[in-house]
This record gives sequence, structure tokens and C-alpha cells, in this order.
Amino acid sequence: MDFGLKNRLSKIFNPKTGKTVMLAVDHGYFQGPTTGLRDMKNIIPLIPNADCLFVTRGILRNCIDPKIETSICLRVSGGPSILGELSNEDIIVSMEEAVRLNASGVGMSIFVGAQNEDRTVSNLGRLVNEAERYGMPVLAITAVGKEMVRDSRYLGLACRMAAEIGAHFVKTYYCDDFHKVVEGCPVPIVIAGGKKLPEMDALLMTEGAIKAGAKGVDMGRNIFQSDSPTGMIKAVRAIVHKGATAQEAYDIYQKSKKSSAVETADTAMEKV
Ligand code: 5RP
Repeated sequence: MDFGLKNRLSKIFNPKTGKTVMLAVDHGYFQGPTTGLRDMKNIIPLIPNADCLFVTRGILRNCIDPKIETSICLRVSGGPSILGELSNEDIIVSMEEAVRLNASGVGMSIFVGAQNEDRTVSNLGRLVNEAERYGMPVLAITAVGKEMVRDSRYLGLACRMAAEIGAHFVKTYYCDDFHKVVEGCPVPIVIAGGKKLPEMDALLMTEGAIKAGAKGVDMGRNIFQSDSPTGMIKAVRAIVHKGATAQEAYDIYQKSKKSSAVETADTAMEKV
């Protein structure tokens, strides 16, 4: 692995722990103005708590301060909306653009078991070919499909395929027997959070994934749709980087939620 690729990976995976908290805010590329991301200003205070921001170029250019220290992983696939055939994606951002935006990685979805499986998997191969010329790590995102059964057999297949094709790291969903998915995949795995869960359940999922060998999260809705997004990202961070239990992390979430409620009340009082 050359210097550039390793250096970029070290901007995503915190060298102190070898793990990462990626904040996924790319949902609008096929879902439009998703709850919690309608106004992108809401995510700005969360960014310093993330090692890496997973984002599209449109949001990066228009809504994100170029002075941020958090690294960028750029979504480079797209095409269909939530109303269409999701697997009909192509690569829509050039490697030159990713370099110009100072991305530390690029990410695309593969749709194993879906209509356009073969095209998305061969697109991954092409993206890796191109990315390696620039020392750019590639994140493959698996199991994105409305009708996919998210069990360890299917997720294990999709993650292993992504690694075999050359992805440098893989994002997938958590499932029972997640250690089997990790064992079968020779590159680091991060988990997506999926649909919004009660906060404790999302933290238990994070704890389970890290204990099973995941190298972090690329989490969106369970952070930005929480009643305390800052509390949640701090809680997730404690599990990923400090090995906190879900209960310890939940206490962090609650403490942060209470202190921001006090701050809001103080600000309201100052205005009276
Ligand atoms: C969608 C994505 C999202 O980034 C991913 O699903 C993570 O977000 P969430 O935690 O909300 O599932 O890649 O295709």
C-alpha cells in the first residue's frame, strides 16, 4: 500500500484506536430532504465529534465549512431516487473531483442480489482501478435494497465480494452472528445504523458490532434523528474509541441531552 493511500486511511480510521466514527449525511442523494437533514445546518455542530463525514459533493460545496478538521469520504455513486430502481446506480463523480475536494476516501453502493448486481459490482472494480492510481481508499456499501434479507449469510457474501473486488473498507448492516460477517471479510468493516431506533437499542447495536470486530460506524439516522444528536454521537464515540458499554454510553447521551436542555432554558431566560 503506498503512502497516499495509507495517509488518507489514517484520516478516516483514527490512528490512536484504529477505529472510526463516520457521520453519514449522504441520504439526500436518493431520498431528498430526509428528516433531520432538511436543514443541513443541524449537522454542523456534530462534525467535530466525527472522524470522517460521509457526504455528497453538492452538500460539501454548499453547506460545509472548508476549514473543518474532520476528514471527508465522498459518495460517488448515484442515479435513481427512492421512487425508482435503487440498484440502477452508476459512478457519477470523477476521481479528479474527489481529489480536488480533498476527499480522504470515496464510497459507492453495490447491490448484491438485486437487479443490477453485476453492473454495480463491476463499477466497484472500475472505481478501485481508478482510485488506486490516486492513492484514494474506496468504501463499498453493501446490502442497500428494500427487499434484502439482512442476515449473516447474505451480508457475509456481499462484504466478501466487495473486499475481493478490491474495496479498502466496507460498510454494511449489523445482524445476528455479525462476527461471521467480520471473519469472512479481509478488510475493515463499519456498520450503518439503519432506520431510527430507540437510543439504547442503537447503542447496544454499536456495542455488539464493535465487540464482534467492526472497526467503527458510518452512522446517520440514529444520530441526526435522535432527540439529542450531539449526545448520541458522543455516546457512539465512547463505544467505538473507548470501549464503553452501551449503558455507559447511554449515560453520556442522557447527560449531554440534559445539559443542552439547561443551556436552552438559560438562553430563553436571558431573552426575557
Ligand atoms: C445510504 C447510505 C447511508 O450513508 C447509510 O445508510 C448510513 O446511514 P444510516 O445510519 O442512516 O443507515 O449509505 O445508502
